[in-house]
Amino acid sequence: MSALSLSVSAERVCRQLDELAAFSDAPAPAVTRVLFTPTDMQGRAFIKRLMEDAGLSFRVDAAGNLFGRWIGSEPNQPAVATGSHCDAIPHSGRYDGTVGVIGAIEAVVSLKAAGFQPRRSIDVIMFNAEEPTRYGIGCLGSRIMSGRLSPEAAGELRDQDGETFETTRKSSGCLGKLPSVRISPSKYSAFVELHIEQGPLLEKQNLPIGVVTAVAAPAAFRVTFHGEGGHAGAVLMHERKDALLPAAELTVAVERAAMELGGKDTVATVGILDVHPHAINSIPSRAEMTVDVRDIDLQRRDLVLEVIKRYAAEVAQNRGMKMNLEMINADPPAKCDVQVIAAIQAAAEEAKLPALPMISRAYHDSLFMALIAPTSMIFIPCRGGVSHRPDEYASPAAIRGGVEVLARTLARLSHS
Ligand code: GLV
Ligand code: MN
Ligand code: MN
Repeated sequence: MSALSLSVSAERVCRQLDELAAFSDAPAPAVTRVLFTPTDMQGRAFIKRLMEDAGLSFRVDAAGNLFGRWIGSEPNQPAVATGSHCDAIPHSGRYDGTVGVIGAIEAVVSLKAAGFQPRRSIDVIMFNAEEPTRYGIGCLGSRIMSGRLSPEAAGELRDQDGETFETTRKSSGCLGKLPSVRISPSKYSAFVELHIEQGPLLEKQNLPIGVVTAVAAPAAFRVTFHGEGGHAGAVLMHERKDALLPAAELTVAVERAAMELGGKDTVATVGILDVHPHAINSIPSRAEMTVDVRDIDLQRRDLVLEVIKRYAAEVAQNRGMKMNLEMINADPPAKCDVQVIAAIQAAAEEAKLPALPMISRAYHDSLFMALIAPTSMIFIPCRGGVSHRPDEYASPAAIRGGVEVLARTLARLSHS
């Protein structure tokens, strides 16, 4: 393959990222875009238009994942896929996931402009609900695609209003049957995802590209403590069963377990803690919380998880309260594929951009795509390593570099 002369427009990508960020339920610069809300539907229509404008043939699957295909000269060969997500957790930023979707479309645009012809077809995918905001579980689209989550279990997932995924997806126009979402391992010869690092390493070392060798193992569960509500003035302290108190004890224990039993890569977070009835002058009768534990070492992750779960039962018992614990997910880590890693490294070299092999501590759709296709990821630096915050930022130069490396990687993979 002769050397490609590529011209990536970071200006166009940044303008499109800004346009997408305007579809938000939070005031700028914050972004909130939750699966199948009117705002998300506008964002999805915007991505569809970008795919079509890039000359990709568009389809949407029954789970709402969007695909844009550039048909290769050998369309019967397994295709190469790339992509990421466009949903945004409450009050977050504009680069998480979106760079990997809009950047992938720009990669195709720049390859086309350079006169490149793919041998294998190239699919740009916008995965649905990588974030767990609506249905509690992350990577919904890629979980179903990879077979990690059954169509039956996916269809029965409920949001906070009790509406099932089955109902919402249909009323959002995804009319096929969920089992059709599953992708066979013979469909893709490789998958590569472009994403902001969401950590500080690249910026600290002044490096433009990270090549991901493994994605850490995430797990999460939900605990509900059932106490007794009552009047905040009238019920005396020794007569109370305040449901917030075991939740508070457990919250502190979550930090302790990760720090004392884990290693430097073990992280644990209580991201949601809700009390009922949520009134100043009412004793909480119910406390619901989530615990998110991650590690690159599966055994260590599971040990920390078990200790926290045991402690949840203990605090409930000590306070004479009922407790429900519901696992949300417990996924193994993903090891990236050596050939896809090598293709990214060669592409970075071609673009004259030094690349650092690194681990992804955040999860991504790549965690599930790795179950059905040789997979790796391209990371670009983001300011201060900040993500899931409104001040998340990746510079046009960083984005341009990432898109160029992605384009050159896709070119290699489509001819391999
Ligand atoms: C994805 O957003 C994650 O929580 O890692
Ligand atoms: Mn995210
Ligand atoms: Mn993301």
